[in-house]
Amino acid sequence: MENRYILGIESSCDDTSAAILCNNKLLSNVIASQAVHAEFGGVVPELASRAHQQNIIPVITTALRRAGIEKEQLSAVVFTRGPGLLGSLLVGTSFAKALSLGLNIPMVEIDHMQAHILAHFIQNSEGSKPMPSFPFLCLTVSGGHTQIVRIDDYFKMEVLGQTIDDAAGEAFDKVAKIMSLPYPGGPFVDKLAKEGNPYAFSFPKPSIPGLDFSFSGLKTSFLYFLRDRLKEDPQFIEKHKNDLCASIQHSIITILMDKLNKAVKHTGIKQVAIAGGVSANSGLRNAMTKMNETQGWITFIPEFHFTTDNAAMIAIAGYYKFLNNDFAQQSATPYSRSGSR
Ligand code: KG4
Ligand code: ZN
Repeated sequence: MENRYILGIESSCDDTSAAILCNNKLLSNVIASQAVHAEFGGVVPELASRAHQQNIIPVITTALRRAGIEKEQLSAVVFTRGPGLLGSLLVGTSFAKALSLGLNIPMVEIDHMQAHILAHFIQNSEGSKPMPSFPFLCLTVSGGHTQIVRIDDYFKMEVLGQTIDDAAGEAFDKVAKIMSLPYPGGPFVDKLAKEGNPYAFSFPKPSIPGLDFSFSGLKTSFLYFLRDRLKEDPQFIEKHKNDLCASIQHSIITILMDKLNKAVKHTGIKQVAIAGGVSANSGLRNAMTKMNETQGWITFIPEFHFTTDNAAMIAIAGYYKFLNNDFAQQSATPYSRSGSR
């Protein structure tokens, strides 16, 4: 088969990223993260879109250079159409449209959440990475989403359950904020949890029917628990930070794994993947590996650089749509939420 060079562009939130694939093999994946948001304790949409504007040309130029190709060799340009911040999405979408017209190549639009899942199909340069076969289940856990998805084909996906309030990443970030850890807090909780006891403190588990999740109650009980302890000892957080991180992380992972286990039993599908920013969490990765050993699951855990937002996942998803001749129109507009197209 003829070599197809695919450019992926991701700009849905606070990472500007560009990646180049040759068919399903990754040649380069460049990510410019935006430090500007840390001091505000969350992503500031207006600042995010301005930073995307500044970063997009250097990021794409670097991705092409690292891949060792010229833009004229590209077969298609792929962009994230949503969900995400509209101003941020507009930067990637508009750039893709201009490039498509300028180079006279087709463009492909991709849903960010589907791309997190399809990151499991990015092949290494030897083409030797094990990949899931259909059907498989995926726990997609990011800053904005928490879903259990059944995947029957590249673009035939069904959401079996999802959060009814906060996302798992949001839960990590909110408890981190309560403990005055920097934003985004997930990686900091993960790091401190490694030194703590996951059974030091326990927090009530939500009882939500089916395969749906809820995390807002956990955050509230963590807040009230600390408020009471701080009354007795203003140094409580400082003294117990590692144990607090280990315990709250353990609670979040238990909620996730219980539902995932339920989904496996319910569907009989034992190929199980995790995806999204929270799939970088070492506790969650260990819990998955354990299920491999004890329950006979065949698990797929993404490489670290494919967990948080990146354009390699956009490019691979686009490659499969490209093979289906499923192209986007110049009239395509970004959407902020899943289902709001
Ligand atoms: O997928 P992602 O990069 O962006 C969204 O699409 O939301 O996910 C970002 C989320 C943040 O909430 C961040 O705190 C969380 O992923 N995260 C982690 C870890 N690394 C990133 N949460 C827990 N442990 C980690 N190691
Ligand atoms: Zn994401």
